[in-house]
Amino acid sequence: MSPDLLNDARSRLASARAITVLTGAGISADSGVPTFRGADGLWRNFRAEELATPEAFERDPRLVWEWYSWRRELIATKQPNDAHRAIAALESRINDFWLITQNVDGLHRAAGSTKLSEIHGNIWMLRCTACDAVTKNYQVPLPLLPNCARCGGLLRPHIVWFGESLQEEDLTRCANQLQACDVLLVIGTSGVVYPAAGFASIAKEAGAYVIELNLDPTPQSDLVDIALRGRAKDLVPILLQAGK
Ligand code: OAD
Repeated sequence: MSPDLLNDARSRLASARAITVLTGAGISADSGVPTFRGADGLWRNFRAEELATPEAFERDPRLVWEWYSWRRELIATKQPNDAHRAIAALESRINDFWLITQNVDGLHRAAGSTKLSEIHGNIWMLRCTACDAVTKNYQVPLPLLPNCARCGGLLRPHIVWFGESLQEEDLTRCANQLQACDVLLVIGTSGVVYPAAGFASIAKEAGAYVIELNLDPTPQSDLVDIALRGRAKDLVPILLQAGK
């Protein structure tokens, strides 16, 4: 990758007044969390689209819970990396900043990010299928199947599954931030799952400068202003270094 591209991206970010960052599984891959569509993305030969659905949970809640339980155990052993930390540090330097993450692993929060929308939810939050109560739960391993302490109903991960809608509050916040930002930085997402896959073009149409950082090309690579190739943990700290 040419050093000029990296320098262009750095100076755009350094002079931006409003920055929005969108992240996907690639940023946590550098912490050892498997991505969904990478080589190690399958669990017992299932794709995420086969398990992360209300229909799959209705059909076989134990199977879906076994998958989430396996992921909770794995994520519990992982730490945020330099990319998560550089984004958390940026939040305190930029007035108009927002982080949109598709990741449910909680590693952005663990790194100190507070101005964020976890648009697909968080794996450490559970929701009762009977009374809708949402609770934090860090227990690992989780007894399967878990029940609601309040009403005894079956608990499910508080995650937005395929076929479900994002929270209204998150959609509004994302739309506003995508409209208002000078720069959108898109890190480590394959750009195939909507609505997040449409965020780069929304920001672009609203006039933002869009920077993509990914190991590989994505369906959005042609519409962005700069596509950087490399690992998040190496490039994000360089991109977001304080100072011009
Ligand atoms: P994917 O697994 O689809 O894509 C991960 C992306 O990260 C790919 O484009 C990789 O090239 C890139 N990548 C991998 N390692 C990287 C690294 N070290 N540095 C930079 N880039 C790297 O994950 P998402 O795009 O996040 O939803 O997937 C979107 C959604 O689909 C997920 O939130 C999840 C999934 O099914 C639900 O489960 C509801």
